[in-house]
Amino acid sequence: TYVVTENCIRCKFMDCVEVCPVDCFYEGENMLVIHPDECIDCGVCEPECPAEAIVPDTEAGHEKWLTLNADYAKLWPNITRKGVQPADAEDWNGKPGKEQYLSS
Ligand code: SF4
Ligand code: F3S
Repeated sequence: TYVVTENCIRCKFMDCVEVCPVDCFYEGENMLVIHPDECIDCGVCEPECPAEAIVPDTEAGHEKWLTLNADYAKLWPNITRKGVQPADAEDWNGKPGKEQYLSS
């Protein structure tokens, strides 16, 4: 599966949802997650994210984010179309320590 990681928080560009063939993104207030059981590992979303927040779960060090994706995918609503990104999305791109801002 692919996993949405920390740099999505407060960026939430949503380019990813437009390309996913199985619509497996779920929407929180300031981050999206991927449902690990629905993702077919096609990889097309990875290069579409301007924040480079999407990684394959085979990449080391993202176990915490995989768990977070799995947990919130069960709680948050499905999203299939790009909405309006946060006005300050670009300002947050690449900022460290964004996990504390996750709105659940
Ligand atoms: Fe969707 Fe493919 Fe990305 Fe998985 S890897 S979330 S199936 S676009
Ligand atoms: Fe987040 Fe990147 Fe999608 S910032 S909403 S994973 S395009």
